[in-house]
Amino acid sequence: MSAMESQLADDELAASGGAEISDGFISLIDMEELQGPRRSEIVQQIGHACQHYGFFLVKNHGISETNMNNILGTTSKFFKLPEQEKLKFCTNDPNKSIKLFMGFKDEIQNVFVARESLRFSTYPFEDYVNEWPANPPSLRKDVMEYCTSVKRVEFALLEAMSESLGLEKDYLDKMLYNHGQKISMNYYPICQEQDLEFTRGVRHHTDPTIITILLQDNVPGFKVLNNGKWVDVGHIPNTLVIHVGDLLQVISNYRYKSLHHQVFINCERERVSVASYCYPSSDTTIGPAMELIDNDHPAIYRNFTYTEFYEEMWRAVVQHATDKRLDTFKSSVA
Ligand code: OGA
Ligand code: NI
Repeated sequence: MSAMESQLADDELAASGGAEISDGFISLIDMEELQGPRRSEIVQQIGHACQHYGFFLVKNHGISETNMNNILGTTSKFFKLPEQEKLKFCTNDPNKSIKLFMGFKDEIQNVFVARESLRFSTYPFEDYVNEWPANPPSLRKDVMEYCTSVKRVEFALLEAMSESLGLEKDYLDKMLYNHGQKISMNYYPICQEQDLEFTRGVRHHTDPTIITILLQDNVPGFKVLNNGKWVDVGHIPNTLVIHVGDLLQVISNYRYKSLHHQVFINCERERVSVASYCYPSSDTTIGPAMELIDNDHPAIYRNFTYTEFYEEMWRAVVQHATDKRLDTFKSSVA
């Protein structure tokens, strides 16, 4: 095959998702098809991916390439600001709605966790926009545009996921009545060769969310746990990674599994990503859906409020036991 033919074949593969999903367990869902005659088939594919792998990719999600490039560009610019400009957002107060996390050395495990991230509440905008960084000047506009689009994606997916569980279409959305949204703008710096062995972007964790919608740039590093093995989820242009968080694991009565993931860094290129966290309002009661409990499927978790979960989450962070944070909520029969 000539170089040009081979390039064409590669492009075709990438367009169909084939280049990256040939290993079979990464599903690429076409969101446009959720509005067409194949909806129920696509809903089933989503359910299958959530049940067996805890994540899938989506294309044709309606967020423009410009919008995605803008938010990634803004993220990169924010983390290039002078230190004192960024440090304004550092705080130890868990109740602050905006918070900057810097890289840190974990003395116990002897690793440096290099990620810097700015995490903040976004919805409703009028409650929060004045707290967001005014620098870079494009940030507030880019965040609003991106979050508005991502909300639409989230809504369509929550409907499809409810359906895939055999629940009313608006089950997840209703349960999250008035629900909030947080985003995390993430920056993974370049690592010096000699430090690579003891440096991580972010360590193995699950997200304390219903679902997380991840926009990544084209630098590799994102890895997911599949059948006991860490697997790279490469970048396919114009796609988003959708993954199950702890709360959907609970609501689905453990049918869907919260995704274990981590990020590696490299010596050549820095990486940025934007994660959008879908979570309920603080007084929402979370527990396995009644429809998913029967004699063969007893409730794995008891009911709890998001506030309770949030407190437990912080306790787990302090105790370096984030993988245990759902244990407190296991029901006595489980
Ligand atoms: C997160 C996360 C992955 C990434 O924000 O919880 O896991 O690629 N992000 O930044
Ligand atoms: Ni995560």
